[in-house]
Amino acid sequence: MLNSKLLAKIEEKDSITSSHCSKTSQYALKLGNTVGLNEEELFLLEVSAKLHDVGKINVPDEILLKPTTLTIEEYEVIKNHSIWGAEIVNNFFSENEISEDVVALVRAIRHHHERFDGGGYPDGLKGDSIPYLSQIISVADAYDAMTSDRTYRKAMEMEKAVEILKTESGKQFHPSLVEAFINLISPGILRNSFAK
Ligand SMILES: [Fe+2]
Repeated sequence: MLNSKLLAKIEEKDSITSSHCSKTSQYALKLGNTVGLNEEELFLLEVSAKLHDVGKINVPDEILLKPTTLTIEEYEVIKNHSIWGAEIVNNFFSENEISEDVVALVRAIRHHHERFDGGGYPDGLKGDSIPYLSQIISVADAYDAMTSDRTYRKAMEMEKAVEILKTESGKQFHPSLVEAFINLISPGILRNSFAK
């Protein structure tokens, strides 16, 4: 199992630790707790959420920091970050350190942009074939991205972000994770939308 010493080494290795990664990790942990992950799973979730975008260190600055809309080609470069991130974390470990937990960590990072309906990347995984940790990170990642300022747009209001999460339930995101997350950030907002 990964221990805290290894976690510290990974964090040290991650030169782009940003408020996005840390906030994504906080949201993901809350969601993971709510849906009943055990301590070991929560630890893996925390590490993978903190490192989910580490592959962006391989994306050229002129693309990563571009303040205007990306071209199709530039977007294709950015999309590689999930594969690159998984490789960076995998390569951090020597062969005899590759445990089940390391494999789970690497998979969680590689698949954080898969979509529940199968239309995501890099592998087009669908539904339950997407690692659960990746699905949790996906909801947390999207919510933080929507509700934070970017160079090309202002942060969205929570209510608008919640509407988008609801619209994407069963499309981009696992429906029960969307429901649990919205209930977590805004108890009561669900009353009308998810009432059976
Ligand atoms: Fe990402």
